[in-house]
Amino acid sequence: MKSATANSADVVLRATKVAKIYKEGELRTDVLHEVSFSVKRGETVSIVGASGTGKSTLLHILGGLDTATGGEVEVEGQTMSRLSDRARGQLRNRSLGFIYQFHHLLPEFTALENVCMPLLIRGTSIAKARTLATELLERVGLAARVAHKPGELS
Ligand SMILES: Nc1ncnc2c1ncn2[C@@H]1O[C@H](COP(=O)(O)OP(=O)(O)OP(=O)(O)O)[C@@H](O)[C@H]1O
Ligand SMILES: [Mg+2]
Repeated sequence: MKSATANSADVVLRATKVAKIYKEGELRTDVLHEVSFSVKRGETVSIVGASGTGKSTLLHILGGLDTATGGEVEVEGQTMSRLSDRARGQLRNRSLGFIYQFHHLLPEFTALENVCMPLLIRGTSIAKARTLATELLERVGLAARVAHKPGELS
């Protein structure tokens, strides 16, 4: 039987009392109030809530695209706010990914080239990046679509 308490080595993402307040002049929007949870390796988690409740805000903070106004986010044991911009960039390149339904793929590049891009940025050789990217696209059923550009994909 699995232990009910998460072994800290299994935790890949941990949010501790994450808070977010947007301030624009006199306007203050209090969006996240001490959000705490952890995600273990291999676990799938859904964040569900009504429109405007802060799902995107939370995801952007967890992914290092925005900063919290309180609390901490740890990814693979590293506290995001304590990392340099460069180290945070490397952590994002290696351990974090966002898949949006629209936008954010490079329109001039094929599906294969889009998947290769983070590998090339981290210094993987072109040959190895192509092999890895092909395997990943095959795993999600896109083997026949590697040469298609984002505009030609659903
Ligand atoms: N840059 C910003 N400046 C000020 N307020 C913002 C900003 N971004 C989001 N908000 C406000 O924060 C709240 C949460 O927005 P967020 O986009 O995180 O919600 P959401 O749960 O993702 O909504 P949806 O389901 O519509 O995508 C909303 O009230 C929104 O108006
Ligand atoms: Mg949203």
